[in-house]
Order: sequence, then structure tokens, then C-alpha cells
Amino acid sequence: MTRYARITGTGSSLPPQRLTNADMVTMLAPRGVETSDDWIVERTGIRARHFVADGVYASDLAAEACLQAMDAAGVAKGEIDLIIVATSTPDMVFPSTASILQHKLGIAGCPAFDVQAVCSGFIYALTVADALIRSGSARKALVVGTEIFSRLLDFNDRTTCVLFGDGAGAVVLEASDVPGILATDIHADGKHTGILCVPGHVSGGRILGDPLLKMDGQAVFKLAVGVLEETARTVLAKAGRSTEDIDWLIPHQANIRIMHSTARKLKLPLDKLVVTVDQHGNTSAASIPLALDHAVRGGMVKPGDTLMLEGVGGGFTWGSALLDF
Ligand code: UT7
Repeated sequence: MTRYARITGTGSSLPPQRLTNADMVTMLAPRGVETSDDWIVERTGIRARHFVADGVYASDLAAEACLQAMDAAGVAKGEIDLIIVATSTPDMVFPSTASILQHKLGIAGCPAFDVQAVCSGFIYALTVADALIRSGSARKALVVGTEIFSRLLDFNDRTTCVLFGDGAGAVVLEASDVPGILATDIHADGKHTGILCVPGHVSGGRILGDPLLKMDGQAVFKLAVGVLEETARTVLAKAGRSTEDIDWLIPHQANIRIMHSTARKLKLPLDKLVVTVDQHGNTSAASIPLALDHAVRGGMVKPGDTLMLEGVGGGFTWGSALLDF
């Protein structure tokens, strides 16, 4: 019998501090940084984002999301035999945020590791977990995207600081006789490193290079709209499905214009697009599982629906997963 991996529960976490675009205008004004609600909404679709308080780490948001996902799946801590965390904002240089999360969840012994593929991280993590479950190496996995991008933002750079937010999303992925994940597709092209990066690194007790986020927004935009259509078509072909089979498109939530363009290219009506970028901003690796959880808890995504998840971001990385929920 073919062994599949199936999502059996979702969860998410957003820090309580919510900043609207008007709050950002007020916060940035004393720095002489000008922005407006009109510009942010028109160019990105973002209306609000959440920022963590001091002392809160990616593993804290992840733990809350995982507890919700395990509760939704009806899975006990002791049953989890794999933890994969996608993050670009780890608690520490090492050990992995997954190891720290494992301990915070009161789990010990199972493999736990991080995946670093920036905004495509959740698709990468899901792809690895799917492979480990299908091969028989794991039965019940936690797959998590968690980010605290507010700590990487340069609040003197209006072209980036209004775009990102903090949050986490998680799924329980279980071995199953019925699909499940139908196909995945992941890619990277490292020649584009410079268009979206945090160039700083730790060396000899100091940070060398700039530890704040840099982005050439237009270059990222152009690449994103191309690869998101391409990977969606590739994953559909791998699964032997067509665009008409898609009930919900859940792309990385970075910019509503990129999301609309992807839906249009795939000839999907916009009411099949799950949108949370307006309320969360860009939460990098957390954006897809956060959007998925909101769509599930909001009653949009129902058991049996076919979902197209798509990620794109720094690296440059991109990828997709097609699944029956
Ligand atoms: O998560 C990984 C994936 N990331 C993405 O997908 C991001 C992709 N890129 C984008 O979403 C868009 O390129 C941005 C939202 C970053 C920028 O939108 P844009 O339409 O490409 O704007 P632009 O960079 O061409 O800037 C247009 C104008 C500029 O002014 P001038 O030079 O025309 O006078 C900017 O200085 O908008 C100005 N601008 C702003 N104005 C008010 C840039 N940021 C702001 C701002 N408020 N926050």
C-alpha cells in the first residue's frame, strides 16, 4: 500500500502587539521617514502587522502554534517523532530553533532540525517531512514556520520596514494510506543572493557586515511572478492534476499584486485565493502555515479540498506543494 503524508491539524500564533499602517506612519515620523497608509495599501495590500515584545523568541511563537496544531490533530506530544522548523530568525546561532522548541514542548529524543530557505522555508520543510514520512522514517511530524522579522528591519528604510511582521504557523503531518501531499517542487538559484538578504554575520564576538534586511523589491517582484506560475504548473503536472482541481491557492503572503498576478496566470478566480497579507504583512517562512490555519479556522478550507501552497523568497528560493486536505 502506498504511504502518504497528510496534514491532520493546523495552528498559528501572532504576538498581541498589532501595528496598523497609521501606527507605522506615527512610529517612523520622528526618524524623518515618510510613508502613508495609501502607499502601503496600494503597493502591497498590507494594512497591519504584528511585532513581538522584547524577550519573545521564534521558538515561543512556534510552541504556541504547535500546541494548537497537535490539539486540532488529536495528537499527543509523545507521538511526535520529527520536528522541522523553517526560520530565518532563529533564537540562537545554534542550537537549532527546532531543538529549543522540542524542549519547550516537553518532547525529547525525536530528530529536530531547522531548514533555512527564507520565505520558501515552509515549502522546503514540508517537502523534507513528506519524504521522511513516505520513506517510513517518521509517522507524526511537526512542520513549523516561525519568524521574528521585526528584529531584522531597518526602520530608516521605508522600502522594507513597512512590509514585514512576526508570527508562526504549524501543521501536524501524519503517515496515511490516503493522500495527503500529492507532489512537491522546490528550487534555488544562489546567483540572486544580493536582491534579498541580511548580509551580517557573527565573527570573533562581533557582528561583521550589516545585520539588517536589504531588498531590491522590484527585482524580487519580477522573479517572483515568473517562478510562482512555473512551480505551480510543475507540481500540478507531477501530481497529474490541473488548475481546475485547485480549491484554494495559498501563496506566500508578501504582496497582494504578486498574489493576484499568480492567480490570474493560473486562471483561478480571486475568490480561491487565501489572503492574510492585509492583516499579517510578510511573515516570511510563517506566512503560508499562518494563512492555512486562518483559512481552516475561518471555515474556508474544508476536509477534502485541494490546496496549492507556494513559497518564494531569499536565496533566491521558490517551490510549491499540492495536497488534498
Ligand atoms: O518575501 C519575499 C518576497 N518579497 C517580495 O515578494 C517583495 C516583492 N516586491 C514588492 O513587493 C514591491 O517591489 C515593493 C512593495 C517592495 C515596492 O513596490 P514598488 O511598486 O516596486 O515600488 P518602488 O520600489 O518602485 O518605489 C516606488 C516609489 C519610490 O519613489 P520614487 O523613487 O518613485 O519617488 C519609493 O521611494 O515609492 C517610494 N516608496 C515609498 N513611499 C511611501 C517606497 N517605499 C515607500 C513607502 N512609503 N513605504
